[in-house]
Amino acid sequence: MTASPSPALNPVLTQVGEQMSALTGVRAIMKDIIETLRSGKGQDFINLSAGNPVILPEVETLWRDCTAELLASEDYGNVVCRYGSSQGYEPLIEAIAQDFHQRYGWEINDRNILITPGSQSLYFLAANAFGGRTEEGELKNIVLPLSPDYTGYGGISLVPEALVAYRPTIERLGNHRFKYRPDFSQVQIDQNTGMVLFSRPCNPTGNVLTDEEVTKLAELAAPHDAPVFVDSAYAPPYPGLNFTDMTPLFGENLVHCISLSKAGLPGERLGVVIGPESIIRTLEAFQTNFCIHSSRYGQAIAARAIRSGALADLAKSVIRPHYAEKFEVVEASLDEFMPDALPWYLHKGEGAIFAWLWLDELPMTDWEFYQQLKQVGVIAVPGSSFFPGLREDWPHTRQCLRISLTATATELREGMKRLAQQVEQTYAKH
Ligand SMILES: Cc1ncc(COP(=O)(O)O)c(C=O)c1O
Repeated sequence: MTASPSPALNPVLTQVGEQMSALTGVRAIMKDIIETLRSGKGQDFINLSAGNPVILPEVETLWRDCTAELLASEDYGNVVCRYGSSQGYEPLIEAIAQDFHQRYGWEINDRNILITPGSQSLYFLAANAFGGRTEEGELKNIVLPLSPDYTGYGGISLVPEALVAYRPTIERLGNHRFKYRPDFSQVQIDQNTGMVLFSRPCNPTGNVLTDEEVTKLAELAAPHDAPVFVDSAYAPPYPGLNFTDMTPLFGENLVHCISLSKAGLPGERLGVVIGPESIIRTLEAFQTNFCIHSSRYGQAIAARAIRSGALADLAKSVIRPHYAEKFEVVEASLDEFMPDALPWYLHKGEGAIFAWLWLDELPMTDWEFYQQLKQVGVIAVPGSSFFPGLREDWPHTRQCLRISLTATATELREGMKRLAQQVEQTYAKH
């Protein structure tokens, strides 16, 4: 035996092992981006690819203060030095139940709430509890009713063929704006549907499905007992990254899923499921097998910030304005620099931390355009990574770019200027 691991060790991977160890969606591109940034050779890139939220000083202070309170409290040992319930830290569950009751009048109690280690893990649990093969061998689909959507959905199912996404309709708004709408003439929600899933506000597009659209999806799914998971990683009350009015919806088969990552705690891995008791019980048992429970430290500081109302207040007064202003910079810069005669369209900015640009009839692929943009020192994410589960070949998937609003206003303006020049040259050459 040697002390170091053998380089020759090459265990056979299972089907699931192969699938889960492959980089999917945006993670594959992130590898290229990280390598580009590392090999920048002095070139200052304007990085418009980041998904990591900006560290806002007021938000950091809130979490620091909550931590200081926890450290000084008698509860500290109980929180950090002990296992807890798989469902989550009781004071956090209670704080959320009360907060949603007060804000939205939801009649929920502790049996309607589950805390998970980040919301990505909850989609993994849900996708494999409600999507995939039943005992009878039937395939239950995970329906993404409006594609593009969050790239992270691409890897959540152990049965990849269960993930089915639908192409939306495109509504043109003025000369250079658009908005996606679910195409109800295409979306199939039927006896083969295990669950429905979408982000609202949406990463990457900033789209917010209307109340009517969400209600219609829930009504279509209800006769098939299929839960509808509303990924609310950017929704009110926290992080409150909606730039248009929206209210979280609750109903018989609606499952409201929160993430505290964009509210300043991505490192603590905190997701929250609010939904019918039967869904919570299934996911809780799955979670016990998977990881026992989420970190209690994060849960304890979140309980304080939610109970006091400070988190929801900061979401409104600091987090939302920060990103809403950045969207305005992107919008104004594109209007100023982009050639009016070319068919470019910015998705209506209704929320989240990204802008989504569609370059219709782009004479090259989004990946090639991404490589060209790198030549002028700008990095944005090619849009084709954001269509997980979409089976049909749709040229639109190769004509979009995701622009992160985490950069500074100066970087965004300069980035849009260089992007506009690149767009002009690209269309002119072909
Ligand atoms: C729409 C959406 N859902 C879920 C997640 C996962 O978030 P987390 O696991 O940090 O809660 C993200 C992360 O960026 C996201 O954008």
